[in-house]
Amino acid sequence: MGKDVIVACDFAGKKEVFDFLDKFTDVKPFVKIGMELFYAEGPEIVREIKKRGHKIFLDLKLHDIPNTVKKSMAVLSRLDVDMTNLHASGTVAMMEAALEGLTRPDGTRPILIAVTQLTSTSEEKMKEDLLINEPIDKVVMHYASNAKKAGLDGVVCSPLEAEKVHNTCGKDFVTVTPGVRFADGDKGDQVRVMTPADAKAIGSDYIVVGRPITAASDPVAAYKRCVDEFVG
Ligand code: C5P
Repeated sequence: MGKDVIVACDFAGKKEVFDFLDKFTDVKPFVKIGMELFYAEGPEIVREIKKRGHKIFLDLKLHDIPNTVKKSMAVLSRLDVDMTNLHASGTVAMMEAALEGLTRPDGTRPILIAVTQLTSTSEEKMKEDLLINEPIDKVVMHYASNAKKAGLDGVVCSPLEAEKVHNTCGKDFVTVTPGVRFADGDKGDQVRVMTPADAKAIGSDYIVVGRPITAASDPVAAYKRCVDEFVG
């Protein structure tokens, strides 16, 4: 899998996202579309961004019974997205069904990655709310191993976990890591952050970068700086 920078297009609607993408003329970044934009604009937003020549990571984090996930993944696959995801907590059976649904008749399919534990879930909340009494690190690595067992391509994780995921699941198992900030930039609400260069050094395969690019005074320059540091 090639290393790439994925721009998190966390915008409320079509106008905002196209105003942003219009700034990119000579490069077409890989973009992440999340629930907010997808639920606001529907599948047409995916088709339109795809038509403009961008690769798309559709971040909808599916979690349901295997049959429902399988059928929903088939719909997303027909939308021609390049990457999508689900919750590993849906079980190995759900992940296997997802992969089956995602695979097109010609054998191709988007990259499928799993969310292990959301970074908003602390070890304390896992114990109290979910009755999971294991250390969070162990749970994350167990869920990553389950994703690999189901045949998925990788996981979303903190850049700080990427090395351990590769040690546990192999270096070809893809790590997609948010929480990236420039060394001289604002951290915003992210707590555990890493620069693009550090994310590269630690072996992340894809970094997901939102506000350091979308809120920059020159988003194209910020994107190119990110690519230079992470890929170049
Ligand atoms: O603006 P920022 O660079 O913080 O955006 C990061 C993106 O990655 C957002 O779309 C956020 O929802 C997503 N994300 C994250 N942490 C996770 C999983 C996803 O920040 N654990």
